[in-house]
Amino acid sequence: MIDYDGCFSSAARTMQASAIRKMGGLGGRVSDLISFAPGFPAPELFAWEEFRDVAQSVLSGSDPSVLQYGSTRGYGPLVEALAQILSERGIAATPEEILVTTGSQQALDLTARVFIDPGSVVLVELPTYTGGITAFNNAQATLVGVGQDSDGIDLEDLDRVTVRERAAGRRIAFLYVVPNFQNPTGLLMSLEKRQRLLEWAARRNVLIIEDDPYGALYFDDVAAAGDTRPIKADDRDGRVVYLSSFSKTVAPGFRVAWVAAPTAITAKLEVAKQAADLCTGGLDQRIVYEVWKRGVLTARLPKLRSHYQEQRTVMTRALRRELGNLVSWPEPKGGFFLWAAFPERVNTDALLTRALARAVVYVAGSAFYVDGRSSNLARLAFSAPSAARIEEGVRRLAAAVREELDVSTSSVLATPGAPGRPASP
Ligand SMILES: Cc1ncc(COP(=O)(O)O)c(C=O)c1O
Repeated sequence: MIDYDGCFSSAARTMQASAIRKMGGLGGRVSDLISFAPGFPAPELFAWEEFRDVAQSVLSGSDPSVLQYGSTRGYGPLVEALAQILSERGIAATPEEILVTTGSQQALDLTARVFIDPGSVVLVELPTYTGGITAFNNAQATLVGVGQDSDGIDLEDLDRVTVRERAAGRRIAFLYVVPNFQNPTGLLMSLEKRQRLLEWAARRNVLIIEDDPYGALYFDDVAAAGDTRPIKADDRDGRVVYLSSFSKTVAPGFRVAWVAAPTAITAKLEVAKQAADLCTGGLDQRIVYEVWKRGVLTARLPKLRSHYQEQRTVMTRALRRELGNLVSWPEPKGGFFLWAAFPERVNTDALLTRALARAVVYVAGSAFYVDGRSSNLARLAFSAPSAARIEEGVRRLAAAVREELDVSTSSVLATPGAPGRPASP
């Protein structure tokens, strides 16, 4: 037998699979599983008919370039369209400043390749998106966490950590943030904080990677389009690399996303992309472009927003009904996720076994922390299951939480001198 471990590079030996991807494998093994784990869009909202029409015309055979290799930069008309989409978000970008990527996940991977040396520091929020963690880890970055307030990253902590890391002689590659409806917390960074963050980045000379797949999906009972203005929109000195995607608004199966950055950076990302996949699928790009050109995306956005808002409300009501004050969360103002906090003595890594036994699953908070902490927090995605499944899933989850609390209470009481046991009645 070959010892394959000896075949792998040291980087490959330390690669870690995404915790969320690992959960994906459970679906087939647990019958009737209700999953709050992956951030999938609701499949019934895909514009199936429009996609079929567009695909049929794109595949008519009249344009041979459709199935040919395309430019690494991206399909020309799509790149032009992206400049317009960006300008509607307040970002002025020329086509030279735009690169189409195979999902934003590829943009994260390319970003890691062009900015990170082994050991470079990447500053991330505590907690942050697992796909960012895996991409930066694969490039052998040292991930350093920064605290969070209810309106986004804690700027004082950010400054403290930056000064500390530099004083220790480490190079900071960039800061990674998800300001709109962050994955996993659902938090919306305030506009005032975005301004202060830009000022801070200029003062400390730090690049910002701004990841924005959810900005268009704001809930109009609590947020408005203006609240999601990208940091990039006010970036006067070219220190923000902006990532966005059609995955959550059109469909993730097309794998079409993009980066907007100063030309020196997009040129470098383009070279890295040449080695990764030569180009993003031409058919995917044309379908997404046609869908946009025919106005399908713009017309559907209000429906997507109201649907996810309703899903959020179904989940929050069910949690309140089933668990009362045994659970709390910051109100999601958009996006796909609710960041649930259970009583302190519930460890969500341990709770997962009980939840699975009841055929419900979520992502434990530990997956999103780069400081290795386990906690009483969990990410619940309300985007994909139907309202009835959300209700049933929350019932199952609540039963698992209550069971865990009963067990932890009785074991604490039964163990003399156990931590947490009251000293006297
Ligand atoms: C914050 C964030 N960034 C990037 C991605 C990757 O998206 P995609 O590769 O489908 O564009 C996701 C997907 O969930 C995400 O939540």
